[in-house]
Amino acid sequence: MIVPLLVSISIVILTTWFYIKRTLQYWTKRGVIQVENKPFWSREFFGTAIRDKYQYGKSLKQKYVGTYMFNSPSFIPIHPPLIKSIMQHDFSHFRGHGNYHHPGDILSMHLFAVEGEIWKNLRVKLTPTFTSGKIKMMFETLLEKTRGLEKVVGDYADRKEVCGVKDVLGRFTTDVIGSCAFGIECNSLEDPDNDFRCYGKKVFKQAPSRLIYIIFIPHWILKAWGFQFHGKEITDFFINLVKSTLKYRQDNKIVRKDFLQLLIQNESMTEDEIIAQCFVFFQAGFETSSTAMTYALFELASNQHIQNKLREEIEEVLKKFNGNVTYDAIIQMKYLDMVVNETLRKFPPAASIPRVCSKRYKVPDSDLVIEKGVRVQIPVWGLHMDPEYYPDPEVFNPENFSEENRNKRPDFTFLPFGEGPRMCIGMRFGLLQTKVGLISLIRNFHFTLNEKTKTPLEMERGSIVLVAKGDIWLNVKRI
Ligand code: HEM
Repeated sequence: MIVPLLVSISIVILTTWFYIKRTLQYWTKRGVIQVENKPFWSREFFGTAIRDKYQYGKSLKQKYVGTYMFNSPSFIPIHPPLIKSIMQHDFSHFRGHGNYHHPGDILSMHLFAVEGEIWKNLRVKLTPTFTSGKIKMMFETLLEKTRGLEKVVGDYADRKEVCGVKDVLGRFTTDVIGSCAFGIECNSLEDPDNDFRCYGKKVFKQAPSRLIYIIFIPHWILKAWGFQFHGKEITDFFINLVKSTLKYRQDNKIVRKDFLQLLIQNESMTEDEIIAQCFVFFQAGFETSSTAMTYALFELASNQHIQNKLREEIEEVLKKFNGNVTYDAIIQMKYLDMVVNETLRKFPPAASIPRVCSKRYKVPDSDLVIEKGVRVQIPVWGLHMDPEYYPDPEVFNPENFSEENRNKRPDFTFLPFGEGPRMCIGMRFGLLQTKVGLISLIRNFHFTLNEKTKTPLEMERGSIVLVAKGDIWLNVKRI
């Protein structure tokens, strides 16, 4: 009895081993330099792994390399013209992000995840929501939320207590997006434990089992099973939140200047579509902007001369506007723009951008063909830390974004918001939110780095966005 059992187990193990070994030769067989993954027990942040693979390929003067996600092949383009082809010229071959979605799981049917004609129609419907005119409309809400931010940071200054800026800025962007996308005043700055913030945090802490399901189980099975990627509790919370707000506005004839209002006015959108888009505005807009502000403050606290120069510019420009922060005043703050861009270069919240090949693609000037279904990872962080494009890439230097230095760089070497038809739809809002937050803080407070912050910063392993492990601790003084 025991012998046949052992033989069967050995056969299963050997067959699996041969299968994995064969799949892991996908790139070598095609003559592409293959970069293996580190063993799973030395797990690191996904974006760091892609950055290192870019650097390895670049050191071998390659235009691309191949790697694997678990055992499925993944392509990493290195040469900017090839990246441009994939994201822009030959977009019709790479139309999707490769995210899980199905209509039975309402929250999953959002702009970032959907593909093909559904994505195209949705993008057309949503584009008017993000024009500069519409974003300007929300400026007052943004400004109003900075009052709460100043109060919380001011309290730290008065108590002479060290301030964990990652947490505070996360509460600020939660309040902004809660108000602009869901039409609710959740006051996370005053009440960090409110429901909206708690559920919001849960969204980013997915059970690993759910990720494993979507990677290994065919999506048609998940669909038949009625699988909900975010689980029943989170899904019900967000669906009910939007539904009750929609009803409240309808019953009380309330009109507000926010994203939700713009979606309601768009008569071609169904209720389910509205719910999914509110959810993605929250998912895509909250952590990306709060981490951008956190890293900016970290660098400003570490580089006092840059902090002082920025404060001088803010004061100088605001003088022309009677001390009022306005949309037009922000446009005139050129150094602020350079500081924000340099932050997004050194710490791009999306360290790697996914694409999936939807139609066989012959790589230009090469015999290589990328087959349908192969995933592509655009190595954003690798490009941003490449000394060929940014001398001394570890040094925080806003001059990298002076007009002269910008013009020297090839296209597609600065990609914090992606590029091409699938580029971030919320870029203007994300930048404005980041700038308004920074102006209010730098104008009113002086920041220095507290020794509680562990440097060099280590990145959170299980995160999707490039987030520092632990908080970033700063000393704050009123000005
Ligand atoms: C600093 C802030 C932000 C950063 C760094 C950022 C970055 C990105 C990146 C890299 C992509 C993928 C682009 C591509 O595939 O080429 C993306 C897509 C997207 N972003 Fe943002 N984002 C930010 C803020 C926002 C905000 C505030 C919103 C909404 C209110 C938003 C909504 C979206 C949506 C809906 C997509 C999917 C677009 C599509 O697939 O058509 N983002 N973002």
